[in-house]
Amino acid sequence: MANVKVAFIGAGRMANSVHYPSVAQCSDADLVAICDLDERRLKETADEYGVERRYTDYHEMLADGDIDAVYVIMPPMPLQSIVTDVADAGKHVFIEKPPGTVSEETLAMAEAVERNGCKSMVAFNRRFSPVIQQAKKRVDDGGGPVQAMAEFHKNMVGERPYFEISILSCDIIHVVDCLRFFLGDATQVQSNVQQVDADWDNMFNALITFDSGAVGLLSACRVSGNRHEQFELHGRGVSAYIRAPHEAEVWTSDKDCEQFTGAELAGTDENRVTYGFYGETCHFIDCIQRDETPITNFRDALKSIQLCEWIQYGKPRT
Ligand SMILES: NC(=O)c1ccc[n+]([C@@H]2O[C@H](COP(=O)([O-])OP(=O)(O)OC[C@H]3O[C@@H](n4cnc5c(N)ncnc54)[C@H](O)[C@@H]3O)[C@@H](O)[C@H]2O)c1
Repeated sequence: MANVKVAFIGAGRMANSVHYPSVAQCSDADLVAICDLDERRLKETADEYGVERRYTDYHEMLADGDIDAVYVIMPPMPLQSIVTDVADAGKHVFIEKPPGTVSEETLAMAEAVERNGCKSMVAFNRRFSPVIQQAKKRVDDGGGPVQAMAEFHKNMVGERPYFEISILSCDIIHVVDCLRFFLGDATQVQSNVQQVDADWDNMFNALITFDSGAVGLLSACRVSGNRHEQFELHGRGVSAYIRAPHEAEVWTSDKDCEQFTGAELAGTDENRVTYGFYGETCHFIDCIQRDETPITNFRDALKSIQLCEWIQYGKPRT
């Protein structure tokens, strides 16, 4: 199969820390062009990866052609219009989370890629983290989960929410998406949302019922003492306790416990691999080559941001 020709719009922090190295590592992808408004970032990144085609206007890059897929890696505010242009140029699209600032934008992007027959993917990296995948498989093999819990706390005391948008839709969405990955689609939501010493929503607790019949619990406090992320999955006679990307335990009785680490499963302790960033790029490129739909496509991501809004506002916006 022909290699996938990848271009980037954005040569910022997140793109350089995980996405450029992952595309460069993927033997089925060729990095062919880069665009950034910032000429210093453009030069540094293009020099590092030996990319000749360099642009400060992405319209020119798209017009020059010979590109299959575009990574649009930047803050969520300008995403919708850029992604629409990329899809209208017939290119497959990969974006970071959040998939837009609100679900109306996710919906518009989903419609743009579908209208143009393009593949799409949102970088929900946890789904590709080996400890999460392995623990989920163990519970699925035991008949599937009946209950799951997702915790995602950070100390943001005195800070503002990222990009001044909902911290639930922008960041906590990672673990909300995991609850959907574990349990299915939400059918009922009961939530408690609070503003602790702040004028923005920063504490979220929710009890969610899924179409599988399973129950999900979300606990996310953004005035906690430290950053802490943890999942629990409970099935009939099997429980998994996951500290991604580092380790997980799977219990099948009070005595029987299997332990594994991300480093063992991935063959490296590099966070880019153990946390699923490399795996998500492999999945995206593989789906393009095989003409399959990425699991975190825009239509699926719409359900995750809608669930965030349901938890926060008591009903989905779209
Ligand atoms: N998955 C995760 O765990 C994780 C962690 C951190 C950040 N993120 C996400 O990554 C995204 C990017 O964040 P970042 O901190 O890397 O941003 P950044 O500001 O460092 O980089 C964005 C880059 O895009 C460029 N840019 C903006 N508009 C452009 C345009 N029209 N044409 C060309 N270039 C343009 C900017 O010049 C900049 O270099 C955010 O959505 C953030 O939520 C995800």
